[in-house]
Amino acid sequence: MPHLSRSDELVFFVNGRKVLERNADPEVTLLTFLRKNWTLLTMFWPLRLTGTKYVCGRGGCGACTVMVSKHDPVSRKIRHFSVTACLVPICSLYGAAVTTVEGVGSIKTRLHPVQERIAKSHGTQCGFCTPGMVMSMYTLLRNHPQPSEEQLMEALGGNLCRCTGYRPILESGRTFCAESSGCQQKGRGKCCLDQGENATSSLGGESDICTELFAKDEFQPLDPTQELIFPPELLRMAENPEKRTLTFHGERVTWISPGTLKDLLELKVKHPDAPLILGNTSLGPAKKSQGHFHPVLLSPARISELSMVSTTSEGLTIGAGCSLAQVKDILAGRVSELPEEKTQTYRALLKHLKRLAGQQIRNMASLGGHIMSRHCYSDLNPVLAVGNTALNLMSKEGTRQIPLDRDFLAGLASADLKPEEILESVYIPHSQRWEFVSAFRQAQCQQNALADVTAGMRVLFQEGTDTIEDLSLAYGGVGDATISAQKSCQQLLGRRWNEPMLDEACRLLLDEVSLPGGAPGGSVEFKRTLVVSFFFKFYLEVLQELKKPGKLLSVFPTAFADRLVGSLPRHLSLVPAQGISRLPLQSVDSHQALQDPVGRPIMHLSGLKHATGEAIFCDDIPTVDKELFMALVTSTRAHAKIISVDLSKALELPGVVDVITAEDIPGTNGAEDDKLLAVDKVLCVGQIVCAVVAETEAQAKRAVEETKIAYEDLEPVIFTIEDAIKHSSFLCPEKKLEQGNVEKAFEEVDQIVEEVHVGGQEHFYMETQRVLVIPKTEDKELDIYVSTQDPAHVQKTVSSTLNIPINRITCHVKRVGGGFGGKVGRPAVLGAIAAVGANKTGYPIRLVLDREDDMLITGGRHPLFGKYKVGFMNSGRIRALDIECFINGGCTLDDSELVTEFLILKMENAYKIRNLRFRGRACMTNLPSNTAFRGFGFPQGTLVTESCITAVAAKCGLLPEKVREKNMYKTVDKTIYKQAFNPEPLIRCWNECLDKSSFHSRRMQVAEFNKKNYWRKRGLAVVPMKFSVGFAATSFHQAAALVHIYTDGSVLVTHGGNELGQGIHTKMLQVASRELKVPMSHMHICETSTATVPNTIATAASIGSDVNGRAVQNACQILLKRLEPIIKKNPEGTWEDWIEAAFEQRISLSATGYFRGYEAFMDWEKGEGDPFPYYVYGAASSEVEVDCLTGAHKKIRTDIVMDACCSLNPAIDIGQIEGSFTQGMGLYTTEELKYSPEGVLYSRGPDDYKIPTITDVPEEFNVSLLPSSQTPLTIYSSKGLGESGMFLGSSVFFAIADAVATARRERDIAEDFTVRSPATPERVRMACADRFTEMVRDSRLPPWAPAS
Ligand SMILES: Cc1cc2nc3c(=O)[nH]c(=O)nc-3n(C[C@H](O)[C@H](O)[C@H](O)COP(=O)(O)OP(=O)(O)OC[C@H]3O[C@@H](n4cnc5c(N)ncnc54)[C@H](O)[C@@H]3O)c2cc1C
Ligand code: FES
Ligand code: FES
Repeated sequence: MPHLSRSDELVFFVNGRKVLERNADPEVTLLTFLRKNWTLLTMFWPLRLTGTKYVCGRGGCGACTVMVSKHDPVSRKIRHFSVTACLVPICSLYGAAVTTVEGVGSIKTRLHPVQERIAKSHGTQCGFCTPGMVMSMYTLLRNHPQPSEEQLMEALGGNLCRCTGYRPILESGRTFCAESSGCQQKGRGKCCLDQGENATSSLGGESDICTELFAKDEFQPLDPTQELIFPPELLRMAENPEKRTLTFHGERVTWISPGTLKDLLELKVKHPDAPLILGNTSLGPAKKSQGHFHPVLLSPARISELSMVSTTSEGLTIGAGCSLAQVKDILAGRVSELPEEKTQTYRALLKHLKRLAGQQIRNMASLGGHIMSRHCYSDLNPVLAVGNTALNLMSKEGTRQIPLDRDFLAGLASADLKPEEILESVYIPHSQRWEFVSAFRQAQCQQNALADVTAGMRVLFQEGTDTIEDLSLAYGGVGDATISAQKSCQQLLGRRWNEPMLDEACRLLLDEVSLPGGAPGGSVEFKRTLVVSFFFKFYLEVLQELKKPGKLLSVFPTAFADRLVGSLPRHLSLVPAQGISRLPLQSVDSHQALQDPVGRPIMHLSGLKHATGEAIFCDDIPTVDKELFMALVTSTRAHAKIISVDLSKALELPGVVDVITAEDIPGTNGAEDDKLLAVDKVLCVGQIVCAVVAETEAQAKRAVEETKIAYEDLEPVIFTIEDAIKHSSFLCPEKKLEQGNVEKAFEEVDQIVEEVHVGGQEHFYMETQRVLVIPKTEDKELDIYVSTQDPAHVQKTVSSTLNIPINRITCHVKRVGGGFGGKVGRPAVLGAIAAVGANKTGYPIRLVLDREDDMLITGGRHPLFGKYKVGFMNSGRIRALDIECFINGGCTLDDSELVTEFLILKMENAYKIRNLRFRGRACMTNLPSNTAFRGFGFPQGTLVTESCITAVAAKCGLLPEKVREKNMYKTVDKTIYKQAFNPEPLIRCWNECLDKSSFHSRRMQVAEFNKKNYWRKRGLAVVPMKFSVGFAATSFHQAAALVHIYTDGSVLVTHGGNELGQGIHTKMLQVASRELKVPMSHMHICETSTATVPNTIATAASIGSDVNGRAVQNACQILLKRLEPIIKKNPEGTWEDWIEAAFEQRISLSATGYFRGYEAFMDWEKGEGDPFPYYVYGAASSEVEVDCLTGAHKKIRTDIVMDACCSLNPAIDIGQIEGSFTQGMGLYTTEELKYSPEGVLYSRGPDDYKIPTITDVPEEFNVSLLPSSQTPLTIYSSKGLGESGMFLGSSVFFAIADAVATARRERDIAEDFTVRSPATPERVRMACADRFTEMVRDSRLPPWAPAS
């Protein structure tokens, strides 16, 4: 919008320093401002605070958390609160002080205890989430220096981590908690970190073994007096508030912040269409995902009247400007002061406020904004509506009150605000005697997830009776707006609170709260079931209240309800995880030298830098001269001919430099069937068609919107595996392995034929794909900084795309913010497209994918559909098994053939079945190409095998663990592909897991619990694992390293592995330190680069540390050999003396180390080979509790025993196990990809795609490593543990299935069932069939999401 008047100066502080912004743009968020302040003018000093990370841009992940401090005009105190910087417009910060991770502490000056402890507790892996975690914890400590564990959980509930499994993060936070306990063994004088004890360890029994991986005693204490103070200048400003209206004009948007209520009301008349902007948690995401645009924004942040709170004997009035966090505190205060009967509505609201979003969003979002947004999923509006809430409105003309009722929520003009009105405050009346209010919600996971269905319910009885005088029921998530079931409620007035009423209510509700079959988002049956299940819960809760002594003694519920009341599912609590990791001391040899770091829990090399934000990731590299930004234009059709591409409008936009198309590629445009940039036709929604290059990110993204592509749809359009099979649409030939005589064996035994579905999975690495290509002035050289697991692949692809030799291109990888297989192939495509842009324009190009684009374009884990036929004896012995699997490969081959091969090779898992046939095929569909993902087919394939075991157990009436045990490998044997192995460690893991978890006694306890509880069921399961490590080809196991010793004695190690968070660099220095006998402090790794170690293999398949470790070892041994004569001559000399002497004697202090690789091959013709160098064994048991009415579950306990042999670094390895287990848990329980019927991925961010959060950690989580076994093959007898734990997450899946099976047995449901993976609340609820699901199933509706 063109503007004539000048902008006011925006004043705020960042990390104690003043920011005076003369041209503040309302569209710029704090995150952008902190990271890239070069677009704006700050006084005297640059910000470029890249510690605050971009991950989702929608408030859903917490990676961008910073602390904001503001003077509260009402309480006259300083309020410190965490916010997500990606949703904070800088203009909202007038008078505020911002603290970022850099302001908290630094390795250069002083570390803050939060930073020190998260790093030393091994709470960082890739480190991309760490600054956000630090800031959430730091803010908590600013407000509560000794928080409770519940406060800690609450503070971290809005922060996602994809690597660690959260346990170590929690553990670091717990060290601040009042009730925290340290290393218990320490008090008994036996701690694993006491070096003296380690050296002379004579510890025998495990009871003597310390389980801590860090020494709490070393931590510096928290000293609140050391924190930054609130800037005196801001305090002065707050005490003499500016009453003048402040205006900030941006390129397109004007921000107006009045200083008085009067001015606000006048401005609202002048700008009736301008929204009031408070937390921006509704407006912000709507702008990003739906393109909502407002040229004028009115900010009432400085108007104290909107933050007032007042109470009367009748109720409570809360200012519309109060944040939801403040509302929570206010309500908690009232609840503690008033009798219970008056606070029913407040309690119900509090219940939801604990779960609504994460702490940061609750700190930002305002009550007014929440109500006015009228989101259909709103948690509070249904409760406010049933609680007879009134809205106090204000305009220049005066004030008036309207009810927050059905019509208001539906947005009816007659019941709504007038354009010139604002919501001033909200009046919530007290409840009264004989009135009960409750709130219910069900989401994909417990916290930080929008509810599928949410409800508020209130009933008022006639005094002293159970006769309904008034009833109010409101639901969210079941329509476009919150729905009030008014008609049903009317018809139930005068009825008694009994079962006939319940039946009638359910019938009425299903009639009134109807959802159309094709409702977007689907889940129609589930939602309808929740509508009645919630009412049933309410019915039981109220019944329970009425039964309380002194309440209504004359009411006696029927026997049916009485039985049920006792087992009423409680809301699953946010119990802090008690995870511990047991580490037997035996992993370090008692004779090992003290300074030898191998086998010790050394902290991740970058841990402290992660925690201070000083670790540099790809997009943290400062802007280079003349840098341009690239944004991608992707296909909106699943299968279509490209008729035309109109770039004219895009090219006219300001700042747009060029649009890159396939015609600009000087070399090859990818492969014939897998083009970098589409030509003529597209094969999926999300295929890259062209790329815009512009001066800024915002300009490039605007131009993407203006690029017009005309398509002509083509047939067929295939999304599902079933459709692909129908059309014989495959990417590669079938892969098959067979042993024994399957057909003959089937003739003699009982059989089950069943189908299994395993959904796909999004990598959800926290750092999206990003690359910076810098063309050099000479000889066509290019420097490429890229977040990848395979820099050599990027280098090769760029070379062929630009048609220049590989030796001109250098790829640099400092560190990667998580990969999990998703950064093996895709970075090469993005690197090549960016390189074409750099080649054409001659300027550096930065390409950073948005979370939405990353999820849309890059593909993920292959969904699987498996059919099995199993033949078995009554004893549970499996005689024959025939499995045929299909995976959804998407539109191009990518790694699909390899994934199919690995799937088939690994599918037998831990079982010896004489007659076996495995077949696998990759389907070609019109979805983005699926690719490598941690476990590479194993987590999907093995789920089929384990499902088959569970089915056999059910048929034989045996416990699944008995059938597993019966069929497990027991002695030295050969696999289906005839590779010999010894399963002894497998058996040990299994037995230890059963033993440590007290599995058998808990089985009885679970049965006992289930007998007593009808609506809650517990389930228990244990799974064994034999996981093969490595690639099935020798050449893929080779590795190289380059080690330099400099004249000061310092050592630079480089090798072919990439630091993805898995701690490979830490392990490599541990190896180098042992070999050279030099402390790790003398050593450094600066980056992985194709210029130092060429022709590397992708860091994947769990063997990165193995093979690169061997190469580093080789290089160090070469160097030591050269130094030997010098050392011999001067044995008393120091390392520095020897190096100096070596230099004088002209001995080369640089060596290349090389490892030729493990022998591995597979002959698919014969079905034989030795494809894997070794196996990792393990076992996991999990116990869960399922709420049969909602499908939610909580994880009570998990025990994992893993065979790590001699771990190079137990802290890192346990981190890998816990992290992969948690990722597996996500795969099997919550992570669900949803597509529209047109093949558009619908789940494109943390709000729609739920990876595990901190509340998903099992309440008790024990991980132990099997006391050292040996594997002579690998470096120091260690094992690669990167992927294997994924599958162990299935123990949670099978525990859920166990609970569901129990529920079904109790309900006499005879038919067999298989829960699909992921076992989402929807699937679990629908499988726990009961009278409510039956009511709903009467009106079956077609599904919404087609893809699997
Ligand atoms: C990551 C994330 C997770 C979330 N999870 C949940 C969840 O689990 N459950 C849930 O219920 N909600 C959830 N939400 C939604 C959240 O509760 C709302 O977005 C929030 O309450 C809106 O408040 P705000 O102050 O940010 O509104 P803004 O975005 O600032 O404003 C929203 C709208 O309200 C209007 N408005 C604001 N104040 C007034 C006023 N005083 N008078 C008139 N109009 C006004 C504005 O004009 C604007 O149109 C989530 C949001 C995010 C971003
Ligand atoms: S990037 Fe801000 S919350 Fe995810
Ligand atoms: S360490 Fe948390 S996302 Fe990587």
